[in-house]
Amino acid sequence: MKYNPSWDLLHRFSETHSRERIPEKHKELYDKMKTISDGEYFPAIKEDLGAFLKFLCLLKKPKKIFEFGSGYGQSAFWYLLATDSSHTADSTSSIEKIYLTEIKERLWEYYDSLPWPDEWQKKIYYYKGDAFKAIDVLKVEEIDLVFMDGQKARYLDFFKKIESKLNKDAIIIVDNIFWKGNILKNLNNNSSFNNEEINEEIKIKEMSYPSVKGIESFYNYITNSSWYSIFFPYYDGVLLLYK
Ligand SMILES: C[S@@+](CC[C@H](N)C(=O)[O-])C[C@H]1O[C@@H](n2cnc3c(N)ncnc32)[C@H](O)[C@@H]1O
Repeated sequence: MKYNPSWDLLHRFSETHSRERIPEKHKELYDKMKTISDGEYFPAIKEDLGAFLKFLCLLKKPKKIFEFGSGYGQSAFWYLLATDSSHTADSTSSIEKIYLTEIKERLWEYYDSLPWPDEWQKKIYYYKGDAFKAIDVLKVEEIDLVFMDGQKARYLDFFKKIESKLNKDAIIIVDNIFWKGNILKNLNNNSSFNNEEINEEIKIKEMSYPSVKGIESFYNYITNSSWYSIFFPYYDGVLLLYK
C-alpha cells in the first residue's frame, strides 16, 4: 500500500510541537518576530527547521556561526535557544559569535527593534550589508556552522568564498535546496525516475531562472566534491553538508 500522508498537516504538527517548546521567557521575542514575518510575508524559517538548527547546535557545539541572509534574526533565535542553561551542564554555551548578514535596509530596523536578551546580543554580530563583503571586512575565519539562506543565484559563489574560512569539521546547512521541485531536473537522465513525472513536479520555470540555475550549479558542485551531503524534506528542502 502506498503511504500517502498529508505533508502539509504533518509539517504543521511538527511546527506546533516545536513552537510549544519555546521557553516562556523567550515567548515575547518570538511573538514579536512572528508578527513581523506575518505582517511582511517574510520567508523566515519555520519552527521545525528552527528546532532542527537548535538541535544541531546542541549536538555540534559550534563556537562560530555564519549566516548568509538573516532577515531580522529569526534563525539566530533558534541557535541561541541552544544556549539556554536547561540544556547545558554548566550553564555556559559553546556559541561565542554568530555572524548575521542582511542586505535589505528595511529589515535592519526590525532587528534593532527586537527585545534581544543582553546575553544573546553579546554573541550576535549583525552585519548590515552584503554577506560576501562581511566575510572580508570582519575577517571571518574558523567557522563551525554555516546557514545558507540568502540569494539562491549566488549559493555557489558564496559557498566557494566561505569554504576556506571553515574549521575542518564544520557543517553547512542550506535552505530551499528543492526550490519548488526544480532540483528534480537533475534526475532527468536517471533511469530510476520517470521523466514525465519529474516534469510535472517542476513548478517554477523561467520566472526565477537565476535561482533555478544557482541551485542547479551549487548542487552539481557539491555532488562532484568530497562533501558528504544529505537531504531533509522540510518544506522547500534542506541540505546538510559535512566533510
Ligand atoms: C529567506 S530570507 C532569510 C531568512 C532568515 N534566515 C530567517 O530565518 O529569518 C533571505 C534573506 O537574505 C537576504 N540576502 C540576499 N542576498 C544577500 C546578501 N548577498 N547578503 C546578505 N543578505 C542577503 C535577503 O534580503 C533576505 O532577507
